[in-house]
Amino acid sequence: MTHHAPNLRAEKISGGVATDRRHDSAHKHVTGTAVYIDDMPEPAGLLHGCLGLSTATHAKVLSMNLDAVRTAPGVKLVLTGKDMPASNDISPTGRHDEPVLADGLVQFYGQPIFAVIAETREQARRACRLAKVEYEDLPFFTDVGETDRRNGKMVTPPLKLERGDAAGAIASAPRRISGQMRCGGQDHFYLEGQIALAVPGEDQDVTVYSSTQHPSEVQHMVAHVLGVPSHAVTIEIRRMGGGFGGKETQGNQFAAIAAVAAKKLHRAVKIRPDRDDDMTATGKRHDFLIDYEVGFDDEGRILGADFHYAARCGFSSDLSGPVTDRALFHCDNAYFYPAVKATSAPLYTNTVSNTAFRGFGGPQGMVGAERIIDEVAFALGKDPLEIRKVNFYGVGERDVTPYHQTVEDNILERIVGELEASSDYERRRREIAAFNANSPIVKRGIALTPVKFGISFTATFYNQAGALVHVYTDGSVHLNHGGTEMGQGLYVKVAQVVAEEFQIDIEQVKITATTTGKVPNTSATAASSGTDLNGMAAQNAARQIKDRLIDFAAEKHGVPKEQVVFLPNRVRVGNQEIAFADLIRQAYMARVQLSAAGFYKTPKIHWDRDKGQGRPFYYFSYGASCSEVSIDTLTGEYVVERTDILHETGKSLNRAIDLGQIEGGFIQGMGWLTTEELVWDDKGRLRTHAPSTYKIPLASDRPKIFNVTLADWPENVEPTVHKSKAVGEPPFMLAMSVLHALSDAVASVADHRICPRLDAPATPERVLMAVERVRREAGM
Ligand code: MTE
Ligand code: MOS
Repeated sequence: MTHHAPNLRAEKISGGVATDRRHDSAHKHVTGTAVYIDDMPEPAGLLHGCLGLSTATHAKVLSMNLDAVRTAPGVKLVLTGKDMPASNDISPTGRHDEPVLADGLVQFYGQPIFAVIAETREQARRACRLAKVEYEDLPFFTDVGETDRRNGKMVTPPLKLERGDAAGAIASAPRRISGQMRCGGQDHFYLEGQIALAVPGEDQDVTVYSSTQHPSEVQHMVAHVLGVPSHAVTIEIRRMGGGFGGKETQGNQFAAIAAVAAKKLHRAVKIRPDRDDDMTATGKRHDFLIDYEVGFDDEGRILGADFHYAARCGFSSDLSGPVTDRALFHCDNAYFYPAVKATSAPLYTNTVSNTAFRGFGGPQGMVGAERIIDEVAFALGKDPLEIRKVNFYGVGERDVTPYHQTVEDNILERIVGELEASSDYERRRREIAAFNANSPIVKRGIALTPVKFGISFTATFYNQAGALVHVYTDGSVHLNHGGTEMGQGLYVKVAQVVAEEFQIDIEQVKITATTTGKVPNTSATAASSGTDLNGMAAQNAARQIKDRLIDFAAEKHGVPKEQVVFLPNRVRVGNQEIAFADLIRQAYMARVQLSAAGFYKTPKIHWDRDKGQGRPFYYFSYGASCSEVSIDTLTGEYVVERTDILHETGKSLNRAIDLGQIEGGFIQGMGWLTTEELVWDDKGRLRTHAPSTYKIPLASDRPKIFNVTLADWPENVEPTVHKSKAVGEPPFMLAMSVLHALSDAVASVADHRICPRLDAPATPERVLMAVERVRREAGM
């Protein structure tokens, strides 16, 4: 190699950071070649499980006659709660309130009470129907409206956030309004349902392939139920067909039962509930009943706010504590309250135990904030956007949240200002008014809503991650970390970070399945923090190896370390360039360790729950959206005509993935706020347990015009991985603009004199009822 030779090789690696690279499995998703657990080649002698569900809502189980189940064709084993070897408990928070299989007492309709393992899935399902169970019914209630919302039975301790004297501020404010809002729950509707495949090993060992966002927790639960050390249990997951929070804790039950059966029978066991059972027996998004009171002045400035968030938690705690906490953390959304009090009530109900779902209580918290904005705007006859703006957090003043964290990275004014301009908000608002004046039946509405979402697990200890990187002697790299892939593109983003670090093409980096055997004690892939945490841990592992390579090359070639530079697919050492793979081979021959375990923990965060004070979030993620809808005032049906989104990603690691997250999150949020409705009947049965009765958004429901722009702004970003920001959950809440555009359209029937108080989901029925109520109240 000559000195200063012109370099004709590629000056950039493929698939480094800040690219538009597609999802590593996109082509496999769309051609059916991505391997999900149910696609794996089945082990010889595989058996199949089915869960027997209770047909009472709250009852003592007087007797359970399973004789006919046991003797049904193909049945190998029947399990009840009493058959759990060491423990019949899978409560994720250690409150011991969640049995694997209910024993003696059932607390919701559809609760699993026994399990059947048979030669075929069909035989297991048929056998389940043969159980004869006698119940003694107990009183029950399924809705938080039926209980004391302040002092009813709670599944976990409530939280109070307080800053200043809210009651005093409201009492002395020139104007006051109080009201109530309901927002519904949501089924996760992941395309791949819950599934576990347990393969027994020798001694106490068992490997479980589990569709889970939280392999370490599944490992601990399986070990706990079996009564074996964690080292005997390995959990592996290559990918989920969607999780959305629904696989943070909800996979535990299936994994535990499959593992118990596999160990008892010495055969592999798979459990994959059908869609109806999955929807009936697994937890969902919490629905909330929100009581609010707000004091404000004639300019629309909020002076004091008081919120009470009551949530339907179901029969056990599950994640209801942190979910209802996060609702309170978002009762401000983007707004500064000079004085505020917010309380939660995680209420017990005789329903399935509710759980994590994209936003994790944040969306429910924010809809309360946006409702009071609507109330203030209608009371003053002003555009809600004007009220939003006068209440935004300030910069250097009016910047302290209800939990006493100072907002340091506020970009609300910029993001809302740019979207207001690019969406042509003002002109369209005038055009819509003109349109409505001449259109008696079809009415249009528009709204622009902001999002500010806190990033980090509020349980501080979860904010840690590990990774394992091997470099093989041919220069190819094996990458593993504690995060799980559920379609969000975590794996490709972390691979990009490693490719960037070594300056090798991403094709050289093998993305591998998540397993508790490689990286231990991991946190759930949740709270949108997957890339922030695992990306940093993988970078840390790669840097360790890189440092060793630098030391080695500098010494071998007798140059200072600064003269060892990683260039695309090669390394410059002094004046010569060596192919990456050649350097690796040399390092191996010189006995340099080419494997490293990386680690990361989020700095700066702390939280004192008893005091309600701290810095629970490392940073905030911001976005804004503007939606226009048209409603038919005779039927309540509506169309989203146009949505414009500007969403912050920091310096995006991968714009293609982030765009998908923003679009998908928005549409899923729109489903939550519009068509997805859960209905329990007076017997406590969930009647919406299949797509025939539960309507998720269709491709045809998307906004007719849909403009999504990334605010790819690295200024003001904490030193996250390559200055990127979390993107998994925040866009979900951009869908509030649709709810408020519907509210605006409804309000137009009475010249915006009456606040429609439109609850969610704003189904066509609810829109129609709101139109009629607004007309009635306006005396029309
Ligand atoms: N995107 C897809 N395609 N599928 C999913 O299941 N889950 C969401 C979000 N985006 C989800 C998704 C939820 S609830 C979270 S918390 C984040 O992804 C988790 O991944 P991340 O931390 O890597 O963003
Ligand atoms: Mo997401 S609800 O934090 O899994």
